[in-house]
Amino acid sequence: MVQQREKIIESKTPYSSANRRMEYDHFKVSPVSGALGAEIEGVDISSSLSDGVVADIRQALLDHLVIFFRDQDLSPEAQIAFSKQFGELDEHDFVKGMKGYPELIRLVREADEAGRNFGGVWHSDVTHQESPALGSVLYGVDVPPYGGDTLFANQYMAYEALSSGMKEMLDGMIAIHSAIGPFGPQGRSKVYWRNMDVETNEKALEEVEHPVVRTHPETGYKGLFVNGTFTLRFKGMTEEESEPLLKFLFRHSSQEPLTCRFRWKKGSVAFWDNRSVMHYALNDYGGYRREMRRSTIAGDRPF
Ligand code: SIN
Repeated sequence: MVQQREKIIESKTPYSSANRRMEYDHFKVSPVSGALGAEIEGVDISSSLSDGVVADIRQALLDHLVIFFRDQDLSPEAQIAFSKQFGELDEHDFVKGMKGYPELIRLVREADEAGRNFGGVWHSDVTHQESPALGSVLYGVDVPPYGGDTLFANQYMAYEALSSGMKEMLDGMIAIHSAIGPFGPQGRSKVYWRNMDVETNEKALEEVEHPVVRTHPETGYKGLFVNGTFTLRFKGMTEEESEPLLKFLFRHSSQEPLTCRFRWKKGSVAFWDNRSVMHYALNDYGGYRREMRRSTIAGDRPF
């Protein structure tokens, strides 16, 4: 914890997406919305990248919160090698890794599947963990001809858009998170995601505490950190008491002006900063197959 705090660079508060950096030494970036997100052109992420390119990618991630690459040909080995340049990789607690690649999970929905899709609730990844992910790298293996886009929402902006009274109240609050909703004994994985390798276990019942407003360990900006998949209630309150405020925050934090939308093609890659964005996988491609491959980079304990 102390080490993390020492690492923080001085932040320019308040956060503004208009201050995003647009020039990098090693590639061109094109923002995809006013709030967040940028496409990066001119980098083959399956190749061996120089330290300078990796440093620029990391900086672009911090600046734009989610970055996109097109036309990549990523073998499982190449996805692991790329992702590892940004930190240790996490294995998912409930979705079994691919054979021979425990750090990679397949998010697959077959053409004949109906009902809730994986990732179809606004969320940050794995916040049921004490140290949720730094970020995730998602690769488009098989993409429907239309639909199946992913939406992202800027949580620094969500925090900044709150009134000073609400900010002050939330700044001191703690939320309880667990994986019971998706992966508990009566969780969504019992009914849906039948073509994914999901294994529920007791860990889904474990509860962890996270601040409702977290400070990004690298940028120093504050962002909202509650989400519809894993956040159950506020510490010291019942679920019933917490519900109205959580409902407000879930809607507030995913308002359209805070978002960008990514249209997938085969070979596209999205790399998001899980500490400052939420994401949402749209469920509008019934009758078509969609397969993505995800690696998740281990993160720090939020503070
Ligand atoms: C996820 O929540 O990691 C999945 C996102 C997607 O499939 O678009």
